[in-house]
Amino acid sequence: MPYLSPALNVMTTAARKAGRRLVRDFGELENLQITPKGPADFVSSADHRTERILIEELQRARPHYNFLLEESGSIEGPDKSHRFIIDPLDGTTNFLHGIPQFAISIALERDGQLVSAVVYNPATDEMFTSEKGHGAYLNDKRLRVAARKALPESLIATGIPFLGREGHERYLKELAAVMAATSGVRRFGAASLDLAWVAAGRFDGFWERGLSPWDVAAGILIVREAGGFVSDLDGGSRALDAGHILASNEALHPQLLKLLKTSAQPGR
Ligand code: IPD
Ligand code: CA
Ligand code: CA
Repeated sequence: MPYLSPALNVMTTAARKAGRRLVRDFGELENLQITPKGPADFVSSADHRTERILIEELQRARPHYNFLLEESGSIEGPDKSHRFIIDPLDGTTNFLHGIPQFAISIALERDGQLVSAVVYNPATDEMFTSEKGHGAYLNDKRLRVAARKALPESLIATGIPFLGREGHERYLKELAAVMAATSGVRRFGAASLDLAWVAAGRFDGFWERGLSPWDVAAGILIVREAGGFVSDLDGGSRALDAGHILASNEALHPQLLKLLKTSAQPGR
């Protein structure tokens, strides 16, 4: 059974409550596909609705904590040492297109360290949790990153930049390097779940640029507690706020880092 600290208990309860609403909205979306603007507007209100439920639930139990939220920005509380970092709906484009790969992501920081994490996909009822020092879980099952050591056997997840995002050319070089060295690359469309799936050993690695702290905060702790390695794409420790990330296992992490770093060098 997963270790449930009082804070993690509060976080999973909030995620389940918000998730029930999100699943109802996901079902409603089918009726809205006829108008081009309708679904997009509806989805952006689904983000906000979900975020409000999470704030309400978490503030009721932890009224003094700070919040960093994708939709509402920061909420300052008197307890300076605790901060929730929240993406109420990660995988918005999937949600909008009726693809059940999206999640609620909640992390808790204590004195600048990630200590509790929840990534919950309400469409599949997969709840990934972690408490620092107590491992990572998928529902009741303890997680361990994949044991693969060689790039040719590895399956790597990524996030592809899209309209309005920078770095398309650099990304194509990175992709060219990774696709030529591995057994496959996948783009599933929800960074929090990509990380959770690395923790579950489904993917052997994940890299992306252009991310925000709420996309990765919970996933970082879940990967680390499953025995994985997480860094920014320079190999440094700023994965949470550098905007770029690489997660993998001990053996593949340095190999992927090298591959990605050298992909942009002249002559490749
Ligand atoms: C996005 C997803 C996606 C990633 C984007 C994120 P959103 O978050 O995590 O997988 O590629 O970079 O912005 O907008 O769906 O919350
Ligand atoms: Ca996101
Ligand atoms: Ca989001």
